[in-house]
Order: sequence, then C-alpha cells, then structure tokens
Amino acid sequence: MRISRDALKRAAALRAIDEVANGMVVGLGTGSTAAYVVEGLARRVAGGLRVVGIPTSERTASQARRLGIPIATFAEHQRLDLTIDGADEVRLGTLDLIKGLGGALLREKIVAAASDRLVIVVDQEKLVERLGEHTPVPVEVTQFGWEATAVALTKLGCIPERRYATGEQPYVTDGGNYILDCRFGPLDDPRATEKKVALTVGTVECGLFVGRTSMVVVASQRGVEVLTPPVAKRP
Ligand code: A5P
Repeated sequence: MRISRDALKRAAALRAIDEVANGMVVGLGTGSTAAYVVEGLARRVAGGLRVVGIPTSERTASQARRLGIPIATFAEHQRLDLTIDGADEVRLGTLDLIKGLGGALLREKIVAAASDRLVIVVDQEKLVERLGEHTPVPVEVTQFGWEATAVALTKLGCIPERRYATGEQPYVTDGGNYILDCRFGPLDDPRATEKKVALTVGTVECGLFVGRTSMVVVASQRGVEVLTPPVAKRP
C-alpha cells in the first residue's frame, strides 16, 4: 500500500525529534511538516522532556502554545541548540535549500543562523539536483517601493511574481513585508544568487539557505533516511 504524503511528513518529523535532548533551546519551524514536529515534540514535553521552543512564525507560536510547549524569544536566548524545520527544495549533495513557500523565510533564516544545528524534515519529492527546478525563490521585500525592487530583481535573471493571500489581497509576512516569488529556473550557484539578492536594495531576505543544513531527514516509500552534508558547514 502506498504511504500518503502526510504520513511521510509525519514519519520524517518523528525521526527528527530524536535529535532533541533535555534542556535544549529548540527552533520550531513553519509549514505542514514542521507542524508534525511541533505535535510530536508536544507529546514528549507532556511526557516530561524539558525544552524551550523559539517559533519561526506566529502560526507555529500559537500551535506550540496550544499544545503546551514552553516558548521563548531572542530576549532570553540568543543561541539555539537545534532547529527543526521543513523546506521546499533540498539540493542533493550540498543539502542547500529553498524555503519560504509558507511565508516564514525571514524568521526561519534568523532562527537557523542562531542555531548550532539545522535539521530539515522533508518527503522525497522535495529532493532536487539543482535548486529552482520546481520552486521559485521567495524573496521578502519591504512594502515601500516593492515595484522598484521587483524591477531590480528582474535584472538578476528571474521573473518575480508578487504573492497574494486571497484574491487581490497581497500576502503580508509576520514582519509586515511582501513576498516576491522569483522564478530563476535551475540554479548553478545558489550562493552567488543569494548574495546578489541580498545586495538588491529593498530586499529583506531570500529563501535560499546555503551552507546551513546539518542534517536532512527524508521520508519515502522505502522508509526514513538521514542525509548529511559532505563537510560540516557553517556560512
Ligand atoms: C515556511 O516558510 C517554509 O519554509 C516551509 O518550511 C516550507 O514551505 C515547507 O513547508 P511544508 O512542510 O508545508 O511543505
């Protein structure tokens, strides 16, 4: 019998939770796979595990609160032991990522950058040879002047599309910004693209996560597999 995609996401999430130990400060990701992580972690907290979570979105914060996971902010903890999060694409080999189709890329990147380890949970459909094969790169931009920022991004070789929430309502992030989904096509050098986007005035952050992944937990019809990057990487 074929295992459903949701069941695969849950299986990856449960394996990733094994990485959490007593006393850790844990980054809580955003998205449907990360929601299974929060659910599973809450069960372990109910069973006596002592952890503090730093959520990457208001959505995840309310889920964590509802399920009884103690949450904190950067005011209390400037470093995290571990973050577990989902991704939209994972590049085989390097384990670089595209994130942000769920709209939380800015907080996700801040939390990932402050974490000793970033564990990514995905189902096999997210694995790609080159980032950008299926997914645009989400770029968070300020509301002011977003039209000019979109033109500047076009010059980097992509087609930016403003993200909408519903109908004609633009999507607004937790930080009060817009998102431009930038279709670059398959990227040969995601690090160079990340740098060019960062240097574009009006951008706040982009969904390319290069050199940040410590481990990827992948669930497929064959079971759950753990991938690690060739060398332990920190940007
Ligand atoms: C949220 O902004 C994203 O980075 C998510 O982590 C990513 O979109 C994966 O989401 P799913 O687990 O829902 O596919």
